[in-house]
Amino acid sequence: MKNVHIGLGDRSYNVGIGVDLLHAAASWPDLPVGTAALIVTNTTVAPLYGAALSERLCRHYPRVEVLALPDGEAHKDWPTLNLIFDHLLANGFDRKTVLFALGGGVVGDMTGFAAATYMRGVPFVQIPTTLLAQVDSSVGGKTAINHPQGKNMIGAFYQPELVLCDLSSLATLPQREVAAGLAEVIKYGPIYDEAFLVWLEANIERLVAREPEALALAVARCCEIKAAVVGADEREAGLRAILNFGHTFGHAIEAGLGFGVWLHGEAVAAGMVMAAELSERLGLMPTGFRLRLEKLNQRAGLPVRGPKLGGTEYLQHMRVDKKTEAGAIRFVLIHGLGHAVVKPAPDDLVVEVVEQLSA
Ligand code: NAD
Ligand code: GLY
Repeated sequence: MKNVHIGLGDRSYNVGIGVDLLHAAASWPDLPVGTAALIVTNTTVAPLYGAALSERLCRHYPRVEVLALPDGEAHKDWPTLNLIFDHLLANGFDRKTVLFALGGGVVGDMTGFAAATYMRGVPFVQIPTTLLAQVDSSVGGKTAINHPQGKNMIGAFYQPELVLCDLSSLATLPQREVAAGLAEVIKYGPIYDEAFLVWLEANIERLVAREPEALALAVARCCEIKAAVVGADEREAGLRAILNFGHTFGHAIEAGLGFGVWLHGEAVAAGMVMAAELSERLGLMPTGFRLRLEKLNQRAGLPVRGPKLGGTEYLQHMRVDKKTEAGAIRFVLIHGLGHAVVKPAPDDLVVEVVEQLSA
């Protein structure tokens, strides 16, 4: 198993990356001590991996239960979050309970938020089972639910005690979800690591085909970059915002269409193309960068145009973004490959870009 360390002082933890972690008998890293474990998962992932995790945790905890939430981004909301609290309270789980998030980013973000707030905070472990969750959402301690008016608007920074990425669990992922995860993989190149972007351009088909060596390398590199960024700016005072490349446009797509219509990664992919064009129009990147990114997205099976919501509707949704300051939307833009900046842009230019790149 490869380990990536997230250095955050007394909140530091490791991300373990390996194959067959859920099923093989190999010993795991130390798990948090607790009186009980609640595995929070969903109705899709529970039948695939719930029993294997449960069996393993029974060796560590006197009591282990599984709670399967309804599946989907549309359920990343208060009523579904409350199902976790209802189960914990109705079944007498105390403050020494450890929560295990088994699933993709939706389960991870909700379980993390439940852990941050149940009895003012209980430990939690992330077991991400989507590519997107392994390369991004399970690491770094952002937890949240959506509000009808905006994506991830209600949440907390709360770090897990451990993240375990079982690459073998990606075998059961639908191809559309693999592509969505690749959007978050691709983003790390332009924002932080030009060499990784070049590697992706040479190897994207291997990732689409889920070749184990390529997946292991990509997941580890993404986690290393995320570790460096989060280690430097845990609560997004500045640098961490670069991880939101493509997300300002992407969140507008998700909110505008209704959560769950486009996958988060799909919305980010189209959003990155818009942010690339905006970077070019503002003179931060040479012409050709946007097309280069489009080609990579297309090879990954990702969209390169946003839905036609209209420039004004995009702007309206983007104003609810958490990076907005005093009403000014701030965009993550690329200023030289491997380097991102966060800047406002004139509304009329943003509308032009959105109109050009939606279909
Ligand atoms: P998801 O959690 O909805 O999972 C995608 C689908 O795959 C679901 O239907 C799920 O049930 C299914 N699934 C999960 N694992 C599977 C497996 N191994 N085999 C078969 N099916 C499986 O979506 P996601 O893309 O993982 O995460 C998206 C969410 O993550 C969004 O809500 C986004 O806001 C959030 N996110 C958070 C952060 C963060 O830093 N906290 C970062 C990026 C994204
Ligand atoms: N995915 C954005 C962040 O973790 O900050």
